[in-house]
Amino acid sequence: MTNFQMFLAVVQLLCPMTSYQIVFAPPVINVDLDEPPEVRWAPLLTVYDADYLKKAAAEVIDTTVPKWVHRAVSPVVEALEKYIPPPYAGEIRGLASQFGASLTDVVLLNFAYEISAFCTSIVAQDTSGHLYHGRNLDYPHDILRNLTINVFFVKNGTAAFRGTSFAGYVGLWTGQSPNKFTISGDQRGKDQWYDWWKNWVSAFLLKRSPVSWLVRETLEEAADFQDAVLRLANVPLITSVYYIVAGVKPGEGVVVTRDRKGPADIWPLEPSHGGWFRVETNFDHWLIPPAVDPRRDVAIKALNATGQDHINMNTLFKVLSVNPVCNRITVYTTTMSAANPEAYNTEVRRKGCHSNE
Ligand SMILES: *[C@@H]1O[C@H](CO)[C@@H](O)[C@H](O)[C@H]1NC(C)=O
Ligand SMILES: *[C@@H]1O[C@H](CO)[C@@H](O)[C@H](O)[C@H]1NC(C)=O
Ligand SMILES: *[C@@H]1O[C@H](CO)[C@@H](O)[C@H](O)[C@H]1NC(C)=O
Repeated sequence: MTNFQMFLAVVQLLCPMTSYQIVFAPPVINVDLDEPPEVRWAPLLTVYDADYLKKAAAEVIDTTVPKWVHRAVSPVVEALEKYIPPPYAGEIRGLASQFGASLTDVVLLNFAYEISAFCTSIVAQDTSGHLYHGRNLDYPHDILRNLTINVFFVKNGTAAFRGTSFAGYVGLWTGQSPNKFTISGDQRGKDQWYDWWKNWVSAFLLKRSPVSWLVRETLEEAADFQDAVLRLANVPLITSVYYIVAGVKPGEGVVVTRDRKGPADIWPLEPSHGGWFRVETNFDHWLIPPAVDPRRDVAIKALNATGQDHINMNTLFKVLSVNPVCNRITVYTTTMSAANPEAYNTEVRRKGCHSNE
């Protein structure tokens, strides 16, 4: 089965009767960008056991990359490692040596996550012009619940930006530049391992960015919402993706639909014309999603029922908890608002949502 079919099968299995939702806060680490790349992820060892991380990584790789492919690509990955740009190459080498894992596996792990992330992202503006941004990250590996971490990226002694990620992964799918903007990424299209493999090779020869690296770089470098949107819209990428961005001023909310080479569509909030929120799942917003995946419509209905005068961090979390917006494979939910950076909150869904247990 493809990942996409697997996801659909999972959605069909959802049991709407129970809404048992256990959440917990992920561990938090500081990654100091003033340290050399090879050692800056060492704080992971204060919250994880190296053996556990090694086993977890093997499980993710084994369920994502067929065994014969894993064997076949190992020498190629080793050879290509020298094309990975800084600081990621150093960070990946450091992770491998700290955890006693093979370099090939850490590289593969970092690319395995580039596909099959099903998600829901929402950006919304209340009647006073405050912006809220929320996301569910759905991924069919239970083990990721235990690997979810919140990371503060420190520069010159202060947290320059933060994000939510998985232990061993150097990119970000969710993050915040305080008092500037927030970003989430949702998968677009149905790339498979053979696509990302092909893309990965071309990426390093053509110098295209993995989607999660561009999120991290934008959080680190962009001056404001507009600058962030321009970067996320234009920098060439390995694969297509949706970037959802929220800023700090009224109207600063957008869904960027990305092709590899540039923007396919830019879909901003239009609060003065009733467009006070935007919902992005894993389908182009101008197309009707398949009937088997009703997440978009369910989220829109829940937002309509909430109303612009009642949207806030708590009600947004509730919208992201409705079945099947939150579903059996939902790993975590993050709610954030760049103007109120302390409110950044990630809840790991211990058993997903609305599963029949
Ligand atoms: C995740 O951690 C919990 C608590 O430590 C443990 O009971 C569970 O087995 C772990 N799950 C996986 C998939 O490793
Ligand atoms: C680093 O922090 C120190 C003390 O807070 C400050 O004086 C200095 O200007 C900062 N340097 C940079 C490059 O931001
Ligand atoms: C949500 O509300 C808008 C504006 O009233 C309406 O056009 C739209 O059909 C509603 N969508 C759903 C799914 O209820």
